[in-house]
Amino acid sequence: MDNVQIFDTTLRDGEQSPGFSMTVAEKIRMARQLESLGVDVIESGFPIASAGDLEGVRAVCREIRSCTVAALARTRRDDIDAALEGLKGAARPRLHTFLATSDLHLHYKLHLTREECLEAISSNVRYAREHCAEVEFSAEDASRTDIDFLNKVVDAAVRAGATIINLPDTVGYAVPEEYAAMFRRVIKHLNGAKGVTLSAHCHDDLGLGVANSLAAVQGGARQLELTINGIGERAGNAALEEVVVLLSVRQATLGVTTNVHLNQLFAASRLLTEITGAPVAPNKAIVGANAFAHEAGIHQDGILKNPLTYEIISPEAVGVPKRSMVLGKHSGRNALRVALVEIGYAPTREELDECYRRVSALADESKNVSTRDLLAIAHQVMRKRAGETAVAAE
Ligand code: KIV
Ligand code: ZN
Repeated sequence: MDNVQIFDTTLRDGEQSPGFSMTVAEKIRMARQLESLGVDVIESGFPIASAGDLEGVRAVCREIRSCTVAALARTRRDDIDAALEGLKGAARPRLHTFLATSDLHLHYKLHLTREECLEAISSNVRYAREHCAEVEFSAEDASRTDIDFLNKVVDAAVRAGATIINLPDTVGYAVPEEYAAMFRRVIKHLNGAKGVTLSAHCHDDLGLGVANSLAAVQGGARQLELTINGIGERAGNAALEEVVVLLSVRQATLGVTTNVHLNQLFAASRLLTEITGAPVAPNKAIVGANAFAHEAGIHQDGILKNPLTYEIISPEAVGVPKRSMVLGKHSGRNALRVALVEIGYAPTREELDECYRRVSALADESKNVSTRDLLAIAHQVMRKRAGETAVAAE
């Protein structure tokens, strides 16, 4: 089976989006967790952007020994020099340099001709490669770049020494089929792309970040650039936890593996939430509060009989302590009985019916029934039995 390298860009693309900036100490904490998670590459920052960013990159490079650490630079000498400076202490440094390649970006943003773009890539990738053993080149806005020109871009970057070529869907515009087709075209052009790893980097503007990452793998990409909780520019990047679990759950069909330890995913998500103060939506896949919560009676009953009925992955597998059976107006008697047993009661059939009636009434008024509510109901209902037993004995 092929291995897909996981390139985490939480500390760069994620961190540069509104509300997610991190201090150097916070970057170190997050980087350690990413290392425990088993990602292959940690993109640590964009050193030319600020003194703090440079310091963050330096600190992550000092701290992390088992992952490659990348730093970002535009295809300019001063940027590349700043990134090289940041990467100095890294055990496994990677210089990541990028230039936009779509006509839209070249014309309006950069005022460059296609020829000037190719020249900037050749000279700067070569310069980067002379100073760093591993160079990645990203063709920003690749998914909106004319494919014949994109092939020339890739040729220029590979000839100059880049061994990882990233073809981002920078604005989240691609649809899966065309994104996969782009990778196939480039791989065909490279005649199999031996010695070169193609990478995907998908933004979520149309909610297709994960689907496009999957399509890229199916098209031949063997590195995916992702972020924890899907944070990143605008609508964010493809969420790391969703993509790696997808590749694992559907491994038999997709035929690829990753080096990620899935049971560290929840901790990584929680740590990021703690650091940034930005919670994930309750219905967020894999790490949301409802991802392993069940309220509907039919679902609760199924889960109690066999979890596979309504869960395609166990909570423990991704590091979630345990599934929750939520007592609400949709829950059933079976889940209520289990909840009562868990808090120390063994209700008779009549008591269970009475508890169920009271729980349903309470749930109709308030959204959920807490453990404290359940304890109060159980106490009232069971105390009645204890009282009657005592009277009968007298
Ligand atoms: O979205 C993008 O194109 C990027 C590149 C710098 C890789 O973040
Ligand atoms: Zn990006």
